[in-house]
Amino acid sequence: EKEKGLIRDSWESLGKNKVPHGIVMFTRLFELDPALLTLFSYSTNCGDAPECLSSPEFLEHVTKVMLVIDAAVSHLDDLHTLEDFLSNLGRKHQAVGVKTQSFTVVGESLLYMLQSSLGPAYTTPLRQAWLNMYSIVVSAMTRGWAK
Ligand code: HEM
Repeated sequence: EKEKGLIRDSWESLGKNKVPHGIVMFTRLFELDPALLTLFSYSTNCGDAPECLSSPEFLEHVTKVMLVIDAAVSHLDDLHTLEDFLSNLGRKHQAVGVKTQSFTVVGESLLYMLQSSLGPAYTTPLRQAWLNMYSIVVSAMTRGWAK
């Protein structure tokens, strides 16, 4: 439907430059919640957030995140097929000390990245479409948290 079209069309250009857009997203994330930086074991190898985000390990994680978003966009018609992958991914994040509440600020950072790269194409319906997809991804990841 319409929401899926908005997501696919906007991702078409962004997805070609995953790393730069992912850096915008994570720069925002570490501005909003600098403590998240310390959950990366390799953050001891760098100083401030901008320096960390230019290090290979951080760039690799940024790339991994963008690939998960890419997979979600490709599977808009059958997101449930990613359920096991995403709940396992959630479990791994619990293991490194991420709290499910942090996904709220991750979502804000995702929207910030979309807004800054799409400019006027960032509309209320587009924002809502992305929020809906993101909330499905987060619910699936959250199911991986051991109770
Ligand atoms: C792995 C932290 C958000 C996708 C990791 C690792 C850490 C981490 C410490 C293990 C080291 C590494 O592989 O680099 C965080 C923090 C986040 C966050 C602090 C924000 C609160 C996300 C999000 C996604 C994601 C939103 C995708 C939707 C991945 C993937 C891996 C990973 C695919 C590799 C898992 C594997 O080894 O199988 N994350 N992450 N991360 N993260 Fe995140």
